[in-house]
Amino acid sequence: MATARSLAALPSAGAPRSGPRRAGAWPPRVVAAAAEPEHARRLVAEFDPAVPLEAAVTPPSGWYTDADFLRLEIDRVFLRGWQAVGHIWQVENPHDFFTGRLGNVEFVICRDANGNLNAFHNVCRHHASLLACGSGQKTCFQCPYHGWTYGLDGTLLKATRISGIKNFNKNDFGLVPVKVATWGPFVLARFDDESTEGDVGDVVGDEWLGSASKLLSTNGIDTSLPHICRREYIINCNWKVFCDNYLDGGYHIPYAHGALASGLQLQSYETLTYERVSVQRCESAPSESDDLERLGTKALYAFVYPNFMINRMTRTFSREA
Ligand code: FES
Repeated sequence: MATARSLAALPSAGAPRSGPRRAGAWPPRVVAAAAEPEHARRLVAEFDPAVPLEAAVTPPSGWYTDADFLRLEIDRVFLRGWQAVGHIWQVENPHDFFTGRLGNVEFVICRDANGNLNAFHNVCRHHASLLACGSGQKTCFQCPYHGWTYGLDGTLLKATRISGIKNFNKNDFGLVPVKVATWGPFVLARFDDESTEGDVGDVVGDEWLGSASKLLSTNGIDTSLPHICRREYIINCNWKVFCDNYLDGGYHIPYAHGALASGLQLQSYETLTYERVSVQRCESAPSESDDLERLGTKALYAFVYPNFMINRMTRTFSREA
């Protein structure tokens, strides 16, 4: 898979020996389709979507263990369409930024001095050094390798000691943009070439959530949710194992989560499926216990393709949408 790492445009500025190598038309295509190994294609073909549910079997084990299959998934699943990459509180103020990685694509999300939300491949246009790390506030991004400096709007502000290079134009070497938008409290990015007509913020909900967009916003997945904390866990499994667990419709709840099960009316458990979203809901059992207060009277568990999960505990749940 080709990424922004392949866009190194100039030799070392410490001792430039040759002229700049242009990276092609602006903005350049930075994520090319992955080569599709034959055995990965065979693994895909082992799934027959026409098999009725009652005759279905588990997917081939290679879907969970084969490295080429995972590479194919990253290209076909994660690098196409919108992906949730953060929350709006991380870029609430001008100069806020955070970085992330999707597959082997490094990205940075930032809010510039004018309040615009921007996203870029987090790769210096000179020799492809990683540009920014972690999160925080910056007025510009300075490359730690040779000091090329970019504004938070992606403009190349300074190309260290680059002078007298024929045909070099700073305007050709700004950061490579990534499409970015917000929906409710979430920051979304997409890395493919698909273009969205008009104001991306107006249509992203429909593109990301399909017909479930209204259902989720009706039930309070909105910007009124404050950010409290972030916890990170490394789960030593294929990504689909975790998704499978979330999507088993409460099958494991009575055995794996006995305490939780005692606070639920499992007979009310239901799953609503949409094109890109699955919503599970369950009513709470009547209880005086404060421990179960967090469940509310009904809970909403939304799974957004391919791997984003929203758990909303609330006292009311509306199906009107
Ligand atoms: S890699 Fe040389 S300035 Fe960034």
